[in-house]
Amino acid sequence: MSVSFEEREKWDSFYKTNAPDQLPWETGRAEPDLAELIKQGVVDEGRVLDICCGLGTQTIYMAKQGFEVYGIDISSTAVKLAQERCSEEGVACHLTQGDASDLKYPDGFFTFVFDRGCFHSMSPERLETYIRGIHRVLKDGGKYYMKCFSSRNGNWVNSFTEQDIRNYFSPLFKILEINEYTHVENTYGQRVYLYGVLMETR
Ligand SMILES: C[S@@+](CC[C@H](N)C(=O)[O-])C[C@H]1O[C@@H](n2cnc3c(N)ncnc32)[C@H](O)[C@@H]1O
Repeated sequence: MSVSFEEREKWDSFYKTNAPDQLPWETGRAEPDLAELIKQGVVDEGRVLDICCGLGTQTIYMAKQGFEVYGIDISSTAVKLAQERCSEEGVACHLTQGDASDLKYPDGFFTFVFDRGCFHSMSPERLETYIRGIHRVLKDGGKYYMKCFSSRNGNWVNSFTEQDIRNYFSPLFKILEINEYTHVENTYGQRVYLYGVLMETR
């Protein structure tokens, strides 16, 4: 089942109607935990995917670290703005408008998938397809780093307990690390709780 027109428009309108510093999730800087993974050598050289790349902040950061970076987002406005930012920053990234739960990349194409807020943006009926797609496009032993809302935010539909995460991912991934993070959202000044989960394909 593909993403509905309404869902695509909902995401696109965020980018059409908000300046970057008004998007709740946009930080304008590299994620410190992503930077740490790269510094520690967890991310193998090669092709990496920023899934649900938004304005491309982490995409551009990874390109500057020497990776061949691909990005995908359902919002054509986000992809256009991310492309402009890549040009301004002098980096070449492969950006596509598309559905993260229906990836068109070949099997085993990536060494690493970075996901900040993509898993938790999927509608519940697409979560398992989404996870299978990420597993398929990763090489054997490829790494997946996923940040999602934690249940400490309250009873949101798109927030997860540590056990939920284990249940969803353990069939296809070895969970190497789970850590908790917080982020203060731009627009609302609200503190949100996230898990950062490092995984490797089984
Ligand atoms: C919370 S934002 C995170 C954006 C970016 N990863 C970041 O950290 O700034 C979620 C993003 O997921 C995108 N998105 C939602 N559903 C999607 C789907 N099915 N396929 C691709 N992108 C999707 C939205 O357009 C939005 O850019």
